[in-house]
Amino acid sequence: MYQLIYVSDKTHTFVPSDVDSILFSARKNNEKFGITGLLVELPEHFIQIIEGEKEKVEHVFQLIAKDERHENLRVLLAMKTLSREMAAWAMGFSEKLSESQLRDALHILNSFSKKQNFSDIHGKSIKLLLKSLSPE
Ligand SMILES: Cc1cc2nc3c(=O)[nH]c(=O)nc-3n(C[C@H](O)[C@H](O)[C@H](O)COP(=O)(O)O)c2cc1C
Repeated sequence: MYQLIYVSDKTHTFVPSDVDSILFSARKNNEKFGITGLLVELPEHFIQIIEGEKEKVEHVFQLIAKDERHENLRVLLAMKTLSREMAAWAMGFSEKLSESQLRDALHILNSFSKKQNFSDIHGKSIKLLLKSLSPE
């Protein structure tokens, strides 16, 4: 099992209704590829975790990276894991963050937005954040 977490910046071509088509494609393709994950939408960014077989995760990440609705993708974590941690969703979506969740998310992002390389600590803190945002 392999996990990848990235953060990206929305582009000016992104419009709010795009989320529906993103989730539609994601759920269709991810089911086919055995990928699960969570997409978090922030006012200016996306954070996404995808997990599955390494080759499949890398393939889907290539598709996602070409998408013009976002840019400047930064991988925060890419590692083998023992088991699925987002097993319930072909692609879960966290849309309504509370004010404090949004503050936490932005705080973590701002703390590494200027860095080119991310340490384990960054990856792990963003993963904890994603787990806390999971729409269970
Ligand atoms: C923030 C973001 C997250 C996305 N996540 C996924 C995903 O998890 N899986 C996926 O197949 N496509 C995802 N997409 C959509 C892909 O970029 C692409 O549009 C899609 O794979 C095209 O598939 P289709 O032509 O079969 O609909 C995402 C796009 C964006 C902007």
